[in-house]
Amino acid sequence: MPGARSDGEEYGDVYPLEVQWRRPRRVTAADLRPRIAVLPGDGIGPEIGAAATALLRSLGDFEITELSIGGASIDEHGTALTDEVLTACRGSDAVLLCAVGGPKWDTTDPDAPRPEQGLLGLRKGLGLYANLRPVRPSPALLDASPLKRDRIEGTDLLVVRELTGGIYFGDSGRDGDRAHDDCAYSVGEIERIARAAFAAARRRGGKPPRLTSVDKANVLETSRLWRETVVRVAGEYEDVELDHLLVDSAAMQLVSRPAEFDVIVTENLFGDILSDEAAMLTGSLGMLPSASLGDGGPALFEPVHGSAPDIAGQGIANPLATFLSVALMLRHGVERDADADRVEAAVDAVLERGLRTPDLGGGSLPVGTREMTGAVLEELR
Ligand code: IPM
Ligand code: MG
Repeated sequence: MPGARSDGEEYGDVYPLEVQWRRPRRVTAADLRPRIAVLPGDGIGPEIGAAATALLRSLGDFEITELSIGGASIDEHGTALTDEVLTACRGSDAVLLCAVGGPKWDTTDPDAPRPEQGLLGLRKGLGLYANLRPVRPSPALLDASPLKRDRIEGTDLLVVRELTGGIYFGDSGRDGDRAHDDCAYSVGEIERIARAAFAAARRRGGKPPRLTSVDKANVLETSRLWRETVVRVAGEYEDVELDHLLVDSAAMQLVSRPAEFDVIVTENLFGDILSDEAAMLTGSLGMLPSASLGDGGPALFEPVHGSAPDIAGQGIANPLATFLSVALMLRHGVERDADADRVEAAVDAVLERGLRTPDLGGGSLPVGTREMTGAVLEELR
């Protein structure tokens, strides 16, 4: 821990005792190294986590600490997220999470620990209420999507998903032959995610910036509060055009006219579902990165794809969503915008050269995780 290190004796007799505690601590090169917590997790997580660590090391001097989460943590400690790991994440500059979950830990027993609790605990514990999922098909992958090229060409959208409220964190339980999961939102929770989304739309600089708020206001009370609150917050962002879609209609329009969206803001569960749908516009779930941000404190970066247990350990996992998550981390977590641009350009370049992991449909140069990683590192040299 850099903060715990003593900086030697040389100032000891220069400063009077009562001000010694405030003396400036010498800043060493080690102090300036961004501290990154890497949480490999389960399934393909460790493989792509190793690839991400190699990418980070090739970019510069990072202090990387590997920590346990999800099923791996259940096996080691009986819980998906230990207090020690949460504390270590809080003390880092940014957190990179790879994937959690797998059939080994699947259970319907409400009392058994679940890998996903690790991820949810981390989101809540770090106050990460704004989940940003940019969807921009790489030009080289336009034909890898199950959707026709002319539908997806020009797509460049951002899903802003509320991440620490709604049905994911409401009261839940079983009572005899009934079960319930409550969905609740407060005005404060809606206001802060709405502001994050309006600000993101403004930053993206669309002409004009547009925000689509997605809800189910024709049925749900939480959605009516959502809509009312988003409309009120819109008064602070008059340069951003706001419209509203019901979630079922949004699901349809995402595949029928994806290029017309700019920023989409929606609650936790709708955002989970719509962002997987939007991921397919990029050709593969293996391409979509995400950033989860709060108000200050370390942010969390993770690929949207899951742990893919069916292909774990085979060396064929696509590391690109994780590399793009590293790019988001460089930009939003540790202020290394130029490196972020370089990583994104390197990913585009290897795809342009024809390299494809199996999830991208093989293609002219079928490769595995190791070759794909090597090619990206080579682009960065
Ligand atoms: C996601 C995932 C998680 C979620 C799971 C793993 C708990 O699907 O990040 O989208 O539902 O939020
Ligand atoms: Mg999901």
